[in-house]
Amino acid sequence: MIAQWTELENACKNCRQCGLCETRHHVVFGMGNPQAKLLFIGEGPGENEDLQGLPFVGRAGQLLDKMLAAVDLDRNQDLYITNIVKCRPPQNRDPKPEEQEACIGWLRNQVGLMRPKMIVCLGRIAAMKLIKPDIKITKEHGHIFKKGNTLMMATLHPAALLRNPSSKPAAFEDFLKLREFLDKGFPEE
Ligand code: URA
Repeated sequence: MIAQWTELENACKNCRQCGLCETRHHVVFGMGNPQAKLLFIGEGPGENEDLQGLPFVGRAGQLLDKMLAAVDLDRNQDLYITNIVKCRPPQNRDPKPEEQEACIGWLRNQVGLMRPKMIVCLGRIAAMKLIKPDIKITKEHGHIFKKGNTLMMATLHPAALLRNPSSKPAAFEDFLKLREFLDKGFPEE
């Protein structure tokens, strides 16, 4: 494990541990506040993210920012946001299991340094990898799981909400729950 955040970021940006390094423009390490209590984790960079080197900067990211703002959360202050894989899968396909496995060490190191109170999985890919392989996100979004000292929750991916706006109220319930944790305190805090 690398002990310094900036050192970790620099090492990650030079990663060549899987084939995604051949087609990427930028490694998307993450952005936000590494001292925050919340860690949001998506699936992998899309086209805009790959070009800018920042997570969730396309349409899905704009929706995410609006939902965060509605519960008075700001991605630069109240959370850190990253992805399961740090490089864009071509044509935005799902990251392959071997790509996820090659990349997960960076995320583990990020979690180890950040020690968030809660990890929020954005969508199925992150929830399956981090919470449980058979998670049913439509049923189990908003449920609280516990791993060691970290609480975990899955919510619907903002890109899924763009495709299916009728799910927005369900996802918003999850954001309200996060707000409540921040206001009332996390268990054992
Ligand atoms: N979708 C993701 O899962 N992650 C991003 O960074 C952007 C879109």
